[in-house]
Amino acid sequence: KQDLPLAGKKLLVTAGPTREELDPVRYFTNHSSGKMGYAIAAAAKKWGAEVTLVSGPTSLQPPSGIKVENVISAREMYDKVLSHYNSQDIVIKCAAVADYTPVSVFENKFKKKNDTWTIELKKTDDILKTLGEKKENQILVGFAAETENLESYAQDKLERKNLDMVIGNDVSKEGSGFGSDTNEIIMIKKDGSKRTLPILSKEKAAEEILEQVLDLMKR
Ligand code: PMT
Repeated sequence: KQDLPLAGKKLLVTAGPTREELDPVRYFTNHSSGKMGYAIAAAAKKWGAEVTLVSGPTSLQPPSGIKVENVISAREMYDKVLSHYNSQDIVIKCAAVADYTPVSVFENKFKKKNDTWTIELKKTDDILKTLGEKKENQILVGFAAETENLESYAQDKLERKNLDMVIGNDVSKEGSGFGSDTNEIIMIKKDGSKRTLPILSKEKAAEEILEQVLDLMKR
């Protein structure tokens, strides 16, 4: 076990969507299935890491032998990730966290009345950006889910959020991004080096990501 590549390392990965409640029967969410993040958790476990998976609501069975923290909202994910951050060597933020959440949550079911309904949303706290600001020795990896300008938007997130590496995926492409079993990713490191991969199973993409994390740890 000692000679596994991530032996002795603590790795935290986030996965899945978040759910932002509006009233007791309604919420805002997105199409993340959790597959990509769970695949990273499984690969890291296989490579010997001590893995913590912070997961939004998914229908997936987490890999065995890892610590699972289930959360629902962006707020809960923020608190859970921050509470583990100091003890981690590697953090990979694969979750699709809501960028906006309702300003007010109705205590009772909102009753149908008018033809239109305007809902006010406010920004959530950016977990990854906060991690970038508080970074000490951790390797910090973020994702960028884009539908246009993949490389330049990913590069922008890398710099703005103080990441060691960003994984860009074009979520408008067939077989890439949300829900599918495959993903097509580009990995950009803070030294500017880039690696573009063909469409791969999420399990294989996870190993490619960890391969680059190992490279970052050598520096
Ligand atoms: O779950 P699957 O169905 O397998 O799909 C995989 C995926 C498409 C969800 C995954 O590959 C992916 O791209 N995850 C990131 C989705 C996302 O929210 O991207 P973004 O570009 O909006 O956010 C950029 C980064 O900031 C992400 O690392 C995100 O976790 C983080 N973020 C965003 C908002 C926020 N409030 N806090 C954050 O930490």
